[in-house]
Amino acid sequence: MTNPSQPALENLLESARHAAQNSYSPYSGFRVGAALLLTSGEIVTGTNVENVSYGLTICAERSALVSAVSQFGPAIRIEAVAVANLNNAASPPCGACRQVLAEFILPEAPVIFPAADGARTMPFAEILPLAFDMKLK
Ligand code: THU
Repeated sequence: MTNPSQPALENLLESARHAAQNSYSPYSGFRVGAALLLTSGEIVTGTNVENVSYGLTICAERSALVSAVSQFGPAIRIEAVAVANLNNAASPPCGACRQVLAEFILPEAPVIFPAADGARTMPFAEILPLAFDMKLK
């Protein structure tokens, strides 16, 4: 069961904001940062890295996830996610990032993201119900 404290979540959001400063986003100008809190207590951040082909762009959330697995291995579990952008805009994680996070995240993990009405926190299972899964019955 995961239950990160409020100060831990605020710290995670600050890490996401900090990561957004490294954004490589010359095409959209949209600077995103993501921070993952692992069950080990480690925080791993990522930012969006765009590409001239547009379609090869990687979002901040997947950038953080790939970094987390690269640094800490395939047994990682994510117990909270924070997303921030420097554009004062809403940016819930995109559908592709939700499906990729599903591989490593606890269903009850809080996901904090900028929404139209300010920062929102929702359990992962609520932002991606019925994730694709090939597990047999
Ligand atoms: N982006 C993210 O980093 N995360 C998301 O969940 C949605 C979009 C990035 C991709 C692109 O560099 C820019 O935001 C505009 O779409």
